[in-house]
Amino acid sequence: MTIRINYSNMMGDSVGGIPESEWASAPAHFEKAFAGFEQLRKAGTAGFADMVRDTALRDQATSFVSKAKGRFDDVVILGIGGSALGPIAMRTALRPSGWNMLSNTARKGEPRLHVLDNVDPETIAALLARLELSRTLFVVTSKSGGTAETMSQFLIVHQALQRQSLKPGAHLVFVTDPAQGALRPLASQYGIPALDIPANVGGRFSVLTPVGTLPAGLIGIDVAALLEGAAHMADRCSSSKLAENPAGVYATLQWIADTRLGKTINVLMPYSDPLRDFADWFVQLWAESLGKHLPDGSSVGQTPLAALGATDQHSQVQLFMEGPKNKVVTFIAVKERGTDLVIPHGFKEVKELGYLGGHSLGELIDIEQRATAGALAKRGRPNLTVDIDKVDEWHVGGLIMLFELATAYAGQLYGIDAFNQPGVELGKQFAYALLGRPGADAAKKEWDSLPPTDERWSV
Ligand code: PA5
Repeated sequence: MTIRINYSNMMGDSVGGIPESEWASAPAHFEKAFAGFEQLRKAGTAGFADMVRDTALRDQATSFVSKAKGRFDDVVILGIGGSALGPIAMRTALRPSGWNMLSNTARKGEPRLHVLDNVDPETIAALLARLELSRTLFVVTSKSGGTAETMSQFLIVHQALQRQSLKPGAHLVFVTDPAQGALRPLASQYGIPALDIPANVGGRFSVLTPVGTLPAGLIGIDVAALLEGAAHMADRCSSSKLAENPAGVYATLQWIADTRLGKTINVLMPYSDPLRDFADWFVQLWAESLGKHLPDGSSVGQTPLAALGATDQHSQVQLFMEGPKNKVVTFIAVKERGTDLVIPHGFKEVKELGYLGGHSLGELIDIEQRATAGALAKRGRPNLTVDIDKVDEWHVGGLIMLFELATAYAGQLYGIDAFNQPGVELGKQFAYALLGRPGADAAKKEWDSLPPTDERWSV
């Protein structure tokens, strides 16, 4: 079981990468960043890396899962952002392809998993119309317990349950902060079970708390192996020595590439369909954590971009090869796939087909990844590859921890707080003002002071 980062294609002028002289100062920068993060961790403000060993927290999810066994055909997560992207990524990575379309037998009696990560009425109405509510569990996930999108989804679902005289306590479970927010008091008042998102773990860092472990366990994912893989990675990253700390290496490479070489775009490109939604999870983590103001008012943060190999070789790779030299591409390469298909020998006389026979699709996708990495390097486009043995619980847990720790270290390297998101506040306040939420008077005033739409600039 291995996760290794190969970053040869990041180093030196020939690949447009980091000069070795520049890299020589990286260990000292990282040591400082590591110490900064350890301080937060010890002070109890950044808890995500320690949660994976919290057996009481894990048991909250596993004991709910055992009580729910056999009672539900569908599980629906109501949540958005960090409350939704992790569960989606885990379903895609760790359940057979097309999980929700499989028969009950093929799913071995485990429920389907739907994640309502938006408030588009088209999707929500369509899902509610096809669910058998008496066999459905709704998981309301919100760290703050007040997010407008999630609260609206909850009100709609609650009404739907009431209309069918179904008990909220039997069809709802909350995953939320242990003390804050609107969901806690509702849980005690209406007998709705509630699981914890620890106070020191924010939304996008919460996938290894009940935010992810509850839905994972409900659909038959091995939560113990997931947490074990994450804990193993956390141990590997317990050193302040850069060369021994994989998350440190990833963070420091990206930070130097961005701040010294102008690589302002960070592409994550798994060559694996099961990991396609993992790339979306990563995008939120990197974007919301690192896109920040510095105290002097200037801005930092790479723009993360999700891509999928080999699919995006026919879409985005042209841009990566010849567009602006502002990108670092991180590939995820998978050694063993759950299944493989041998390409048959057919039409041997046809040049475009004959050479393919006898290779497997696994071999093809692997060779394409290596060919793309090599081609980028050859054209002076730096890239790195995270090699994993397979897409299973242990490796996915390890990848989650690798990228979460890298994000926390990158926050320290940039000198920003990776755990807040003040930039989303103003838009939220404007929405509250427009919806008439009490206490939004100041935002309403600010909204009213915006220049009105000018008809000259509309077509
Ligand atoms: O990472 C974050 O903190 C955010 O993306 C949140 O997950 C998102 O805003 C939803 O917030 P909440 O879980 O409080 O409903």
